[in-house]
Amino acid sequence: MVEVLGLRGIRKSYPSGDGETEILHGIDLSLQAGEFAALIGPSGSGKSTLLNLIGLLDRPSAGELAISGHATHALPENALTRLRGQHIGFVFQHHLLIPAFSALENVMMPLLVERGRPDANMHARAAELLTAVGLQERLHYPASKLSGGQQQRVAIARALAMRPALVLADEPTGNLDTHTADSIFALLRKINQEDGTSFLIVTHDPRLAERCDRIIELVDGQIVADRENP
Ligand SMILES: Nc1ncnc2c1ncn2[C@@H]1O[C@H](COP(=O)(O)OP(=O)(O)OP(=O)(O)O)[C@@H](O)[C@H]1O
Ligand SMILES: [Mg+2]
Repeated sequence: MVEVLGLRGIRKSYPSGDGETEILHGIDLSLQAGEFAALIGPSGSGKSTLLNLIGLLDRPSAGELAISGHATHALPENALTRLRGQHIGFVFQHHLLIPAFSALENVMMPLLVERGRPDANMHARAAELLTAVGLQERLHYPASKLSGGQQQRVAIARALAMRPALVLADEPTGNLDTHTADSIFALLRKINQEDGTSFLIVTHDPRLAERCDRIIELVDGQIVADRENP
């Protein structure tokens, strides 16, 4: 099996008042290629904090974190940025698209950042991804003129642009109606099954968690349950 994510003894503290408050108290977690896992837990339990660490947006206070077999502990910032760009895709509740840019331009953005200037392949890849998420008729619409569900599809296409091994999604359907949430979730599942991309999805919705192969539960900064969901 190929491990896309390995956490050992991960701790995270934030400064508070005159001391520090520990939010994550020693997280051990391993995710294999192709897994489709939900991360659940009460508000404030540390789900987003954990996702930000896994996404290399922040550093743990202690412990070891490996992405696709690359240990990250000793890496300088620029190496973390490269690792993130090449291995990890993000989908957030608030999609963070650039409103005035077209759907196509938004999806091309990670490729542009990686390669420095636009090329024909980039354009083709972005168009292919937008077609895969059902937006082939909307390539040139500015993001601001798309519906919430359409914007989230653009964000998903953007997350896949670099062919990441792992997609991290923090409440990807959090501000969508039930019907749209279902179709976005089905889309994530389809990508997982067709491309073997691993997913770790934070959700408050037990209905959606039950549609994942594995359910990991965080309470007060500790994993209290981690079960296969047949
Ligand atoms: N930058 C920060 N500085 C200090 N404390 C923080 C910071 N980020 C998060 N926290 C604290 O860490 C705890 C966990 O927050 P986190 O956002 O990870 O929870 P969550 O499980 O994602 O909650 P929710 O379900 O509401 O999104 C909270 O008590 C929060 O106040
Ligand atoms: Mg959160």
